[in-house]
Amino acid sequence: MCGIVGVTGNDNAVSILLEGLQKLEYRGYDSAGIYVNDLHGEDYLVKEKGRIANLTAAVGPEVHGSTGIGHTRWATHGGVSVANAHPQVSEDHRFYLVHNGVIENFKELKAEYLSDVTFTSQTDTEVFVQLVDKFVREENLTTKEAFLKSISLLKKGSSYAFLLIDSNDPDTLYVAKNKSPLLVGLGEGCNVVCSDALAMINVTHEFLELKDGEVVTIKPQSVEIIDQAGNQVDRDSFHVEMDAQDTDKGTYPYYMLKEIDEQPNVMRKLAQTYLLESGKTTVDPALIEDINQADRLYIIGAGTSYHAGLVGKKLFEKLTHIPTEVHVASEFAYEKPLLSEHPFFIFLTQSGETADSREVLVNVNAGDYKSLTITNVQNSTLSREATYTMLLGAGPEISVASTKAYTAQIAVEAILAKAVGMAKEQIVAEEFDLRQQLGLVATGMQAIIDEKDQVEELAKEYFVPATRAFYIGRGIDYFVSLEAALKLKEISYVQAEGFASGELKHGTIALIEENTPVVGIITQDDTASLTRSNLQETLSRGAKVMTIARQGVANADDTIVIADVDELIMPLLSVVPAQLLAYYTSLNKGLDVDRPRNLAKSVTVE
Ligand code: G6P
Repeated sequence: MCGIVGVTGNDNAVSILLEGLQKLEYRGYDSAGIYVNDLHGEDYLVKEKGRIANLTAAVGPEVHGSTGIGHTRWATHGGVSVANAHPQVSEDHRFYLVHNGVIENFKELKAEYLSDVTFTSQTDTEVFVQLVDKFVREENLTTKEAFLKSISLLKKGSSYAFLLIDSNDPDTLYVAKNKSPLLVGLGEGCNVVCSDALAMINVTHEFLELKDGEVVTIKPQSVEIIDQAGNQVDRDSFHVEMDAQDTDKGTYPYYMLKEIDEQPNVMRKLAQTYLLESGKTTVDPALIEDINQADRLYIIGAGTSYHAGLVGKKLFEKLTHIPTEVHVASEFAYEKPLLSEHPFFIFLTQSGETADSREVLVNVNAGDYKSLTITNVQNSTLSREATYTMLLGAGPEISVASTKAYTAQIAVEAILAKAVGMAKEQIVAEEFDLRQQLGLVATGMQAIIDEKDQVEELAKEYFVPATRAFYIGRGIDYFVSLEAALKLKEISYVQAEGFASGELKHGTIALIEENTPVVGIITQDDTASLTRSNLQETLSRGAKVMTIARQGVANADDTIVIADVDELIMPLLSVVPAQLLAYYTSLNKGLDVDRPRNLAKSVTVE
């Protein structure tokens, strides 16, 4: 979702901004733009609908500068158009602004202060830049004072990230953020701003975290941070270890396929990072202790992360015996369940930035509860704000459809559950040889990936012609069915539903018609035959049935047979054919696999 980049003090501003925006493409957007200024009176504003490639093509050779701002926009207020793309500009063309978030009271502000201003867009963003301009012109405020005054007029609690340039003093960048992610990067002789360190990793590895409510003034040689109370803040930078190569697609046609293929390595890496040969783990003892003090665990996540959380419930309850609840973040924030006496919160979030999850964490912190964020992004907002962090170490996940983050989240949950269970001397946890199991998982994943051509044929036969499809399973297989259906629908637009297989007959079976694909996930001893019976029920009504079955419970006529690993972590394997089926359905329908319509990778609005 919307991305921000900015630079001051570098003659390559244009390419830094364009490359930065390209790195943020994965977040999802529908238009983009840059503003650059050469400090000698020349400046340029270029905006385009669609891809960064369109913007790059529109940037002529004359466009140059050493300071500038850029943006990828995911439309909220106002349709997708060049006029609504950012940067937004004030009436007199003095101020340029890029913005993430929503100015909830923009209509009121417009009516109260800007009735005499001619607007050129339908965005809430333009209201803000016109306000700054108005206060500078009419109230004789400095740019910074006008910026601060405009922020003070926003509805309390609004989420925003602003980056403003005054073309009369163009090497100064004015930055403010609340709830929306934004970082300052410290370069050599230049400084940068970005929504995600990835965007500026070619310029610097040193970043400054910004906290909510802070306002920052950035020049090529200085960064001044002012906190909410108006005090100057001194803050150490943090180092981001990331190889620019990690974000390369290499020879893969799409990131999604690359990320599916990376899963065996991610499993091996997680085993090495967290599990010692001695059977002990490297999980922080203080975290284990805090979880052991809890009488109930609350797992919070959105989308795929929520689905990984469902599997986590099973893992925690089985290995630690601590009752566990799983909640969709956007629901929990406003429909809070009755909490136990000593709750512990676990946030699952690939990006570490999802606004819905973050809203819950803000409340958790206000209640002084302890929490853990399991995330793929070091120093992301949810990582910084939780008591503890465990990293997925899966490498950047660029494709909107999450794959390796899902399996890494489940593996980390298993590692944590084992660590806590061992501290509680639970025999199941002690006997669970996860290090060896993750090795088997890696091999099993590789075997599925090696047969991907066959999976492509199945995708063509079952899903490409379909408009509707079902994944069904029981227990942990049902949780994977939810994720499998989400994968399929988000990138192939086949309406797919994951269903508890026993529940299908209570209504939804009415949707089964001749050739409706129904995929049964069968990995558990005690439910295998029940799911098979439910599949029979759909078969009798014309369904086109496929099965993904664990070797130990497989029949000769199962469609895809996957390796035997401990039943508790079977989702690590059973999800992989479903990821591939979704990928090949999308590919064979000629769709943009990595950037499905209407979706964003990192959803930073509630
Ligand atoms: C977006 C993405 C999903 C993702 C969800 C949660 O909706 O499109 O793929 O599962 O956000 O993201 P998170 O970064 O919190 O795991």
